[in-house]
Amino acid sequence: MRKKMVIGNWKMNGTVSTNSRLLQDIKDDPAVSASQIEVAVCVPFLHVPKTRAILDGSALRWGVQDVSAYREGAFTGEISADMAAEFGVLYALVGHSERRTYHGEALKTVGEKALRTIEAGIVPVVCVGETLREREDGAARETVETQLMAVLDSLTVQQAACIVVAYEPVWAIGTGRSAGASQAQEMHAFIRETLSKQATDLANTPILYGGSVKPATASELFAQADIDGALIGAAALDASQFLDIIRSAAFQALS
Ligand code: PGA
Repeated sequence: MRKKMVIGNWKMNGTVSTNSRLLQDIKDDPAVSASQIEVAVCVPFLHVPKTRAILDGSALRWGVQDVSAYREGAFTGEISADMAAEFGVLYALVGHSERRTYHGEALKTVGEKALRTIEAGIVPVVCVGETLREREDGAARETVETQLMAVLDSLTVQQAACIVVAYEPVWAIGTGRSAGASQAQEMHAFIRETLSKQATDLANTPILYGGSVKPATASELFAQADIDGALIGAAALDASQFLDIIRSAAFQALS
């Protein structure tokens, strides 16, 4: 049985004081330290040192929401994976749809970011997902496969065995409109099949669902065979909602 995983994506929200309070409210909850699940929060870069100071020694891990595609050099405003690793960062989101859409991240760039992340000893959470238009045109699988293959083509099989995949249909992010559990399961099964075809070692890659996950929808999603957890945006900014989702994951992992 694969471990369940719940990762919060705080995006560009909060202040040092509100985010510190949020961490304090979450970190010592027994659900967070349950051995059958892994919980992390991906915070704004500037909040990483404070997050590390608060979470050091707790079961709650921390991550970032992006890394540079480059190792170092004249890339004004960028932050490298190696820099993040110096602050105990364990996860980095790569290819989030907001980066692909608002920052023009190309397929190749996302592959390079995944590689830089792995080289730094950080686990890339590779985000893939189709737009509403692509789903309506019957091109959802093709889009997801293209995004996934661009990353797999940048990595050796050994490196690819370190990734986490997050399926986040763009039409479900921040819209309150989550994919149905069976609709999500269908795409997760396709992603697992694509990974397995690439190498049998990749069959157990954790595949998370993301897009308007709330406590009310989490348990049905987590009950699906190929849904190994969730990437949570808005609900991760509220301690009680985030903890409810974590408890659902822990419960499913036990049953
Ligand atoms: P949401 O965001 O849960 O607010 O839809 C998910 C994400 O963008 O990772």
